Amino acid sequence: MADRISVMLTEEEIDARIRQMGEEITKDYEGKELVLICTLKGAVFFACELAKRIDLPSQMEFMRCESYGNSDTSSGNVKLLLDLDQDIAGKHVLVIEDIVDTGRTLSYLMEKLKNRKPASLKLAALLDKPERRVIDIKADYTGFTIPDKFVVGYGLDYAQNYRQLPYIGVVEVVD
Ligand code: IMP
Ligand code: MG
Repeated sequence: MADRISVMLTEEEIDARIRQMGEEITKDYEGKELVLICTLKGAVFFACELAKRIDLPSQMEFMRCESYGNSDTSSGNVKLLLDLDQDIAGKHVLVIEDIVDTGRTLSYLMEKLKNRKPASLKLAALLDKPERRVIDIKADYTGFTIPDKFVVGYGLDYAQNYRQLPYIGVVEVVD
């Protein structure tokens, strides 16, 4: 009954890459302050690790979107469940997302944030699955580009399970 999970990215590989991303972001925003927006729930693990590696004054905010569809594909209908509690007008905003898949959730979210007139708006995603893209959206910082496989761990879930795994793996459902 238990699902088998094969490791795609180890904890060490992920941590090393997040460290590099943090250094790159620190350089790019030198002398600025950042508002980091972590999208719930999937990006929580990545956002915490990345925030620790960004050596700049920053604030952390949370947003949550829900897209209607079946459990592993998002539909076009996205709804905002949790919004920011600060005004981002004139601020440098970096959205932190777990994975860019079809791009539907992010295009909705980025558009919403853009309308609030931040000084700048960029996107950092731990994973990118370009083969699945429906809406043309690209992260400014990408951890890993992966093939079209459903992955779990490091915050990513399969029916709310496996978020806590310290690595990223592919579920093989066994029954
Ligand atoms: P999009 O709107 O299709 O880009 O979907 C983005 C959301 O779908 C992500 O934030 C994840 O919550 C979820 N998702 C997409 N691919 C995967 C996956 O391989 N594993 C777990 N969740 C995924
Ligand atoms: Mg999810």
